[in-house]
Amino acid sequence: MYLSKDEEEMLERGDDVAKAMQILVTIGKMFEAERLIKIRSAHVSGISYDNIGDAGLEFLESLKAKFSVPTTINPAGFDLLRWKEMRIDDEFYNKQIRILKALKDLGANLTLTCTPYYVNRPNFGDHLAWAESSAVVYANSLIGARTNREAGITSIAAAITGRTAYFGLHIKENRAPTVKVKVSGNLALAGYILGKELKGNEIPYVIFEKKPLEFELKLFSASLATSSGIAMFHSPEITPEAEDFEVPREKIEVEGKGEKSCDADLIAIGCPHTSREELKTILELLNGEKVKKNFWIFTSRKIFEESKDLVEKLEKLGVKVFCDTCMVVSPATDKFNCLMVNSAKALHYIPLRRKCHVSFSSLEDCVRYAKSP
Ligand code: F3S
Repeated sequence: MYLSKDEEEMLERGDDVAKAMQILVTIGKMFEAERLIKIRSAHVSGISYDNIGDAGLEFLESLKAKFSVPTTINPAGFDLLRWKEMRIDDEFYNKQIRILKALKDLGANLTLTCTPYYVNRPNFGDHLAWAESSAVVYANSLIGARTNREAGITSIAAAITGRTAYFGLHIKENRAPTVKVKVSGNLALAGYILGKELKGNEIPYVIFEKKPLEFELKLFSASLATSSGIAMFHSPEITPEAEDFEVPREKIEVEGKGEKSCDADLIAIGCPHTSREELKTILELLNGEKVKKNFWIFTSRKIFEESKDLVEKLEKLGVKVFCDTCMVVSPATDKFNCLMVNSAKALHYIPLRRKCHVSFSSLEDCVRYAKSP
């Protein structure tokens, strides 16, 4: 594999930069990359103490290097300002804070969100090394930026070196659609079902029955990435590269329908983190009525700050809007029996990661349920 003079020098240094470069070279050789490519940003996932535990904490604290490109990070295990209200214990709090300090020392921007594209939107054609699978599908498909599905460790190596291996979706011809799909019904469920039907290296060319809203495309991206290794899709008049390739002939149809219910004692929205538009939609659906159930929304600190007007109104109606964390990576949701969600990613991960059951509904039905006695 070809390495530039700078890259050779990094590899020879004998420190953590060299180790990071070694990881990228190994991955590059595995995937027969001809070279590395410079990236505009990195995004590191799996930073909740709940995910990585003591081993992850010690690894991050041991790193002696600096990130060389703008690097954002995924949600932590609690809202940094309201952790007491979330009933997080002191030990968990202290370990999570150490993880964040280690990441800050490395040079990370403590965005604590799985929607880095709302914090700092990449440009069309930018090469990235992002490790949050929902954000990878969003960035490749809806923005036209280029990233493979990085792992937590490779995104850190990429953040340190400012490079990633040039293969897969970094190369235009590998971004061609492979199968045509007609999609109808609930898009979060449709994405999840579609992912189960396709192989991980497929790139669907999606015809939506109805023009989706931006947040529905985000839910679709997240669920597609949950049930498969798929990293992008195209859709005519929606995604920027849909017209760049021949449309595949093979065709399948997917309908997003299905139910899962339990007696929910918490409605949890924001997987992936909500946008300002979603906050506005929830407020409209509430239509001035107070919620009669626990209703939590998860968003990024940035959207929270930019939407204080909406947050204030939501909280007056009894909704809690938390930042920096989510219903899957925070132990705060363990004390509930059943969570109602509108995200197929949350539907998939809550039973695996938390001590509660899960129920799925559309956003409209979640809000209706929250208002019911
Ligand atoms: Fe984000 Fe948590 Fe869902 S990190 S994509 S809200 S599982």
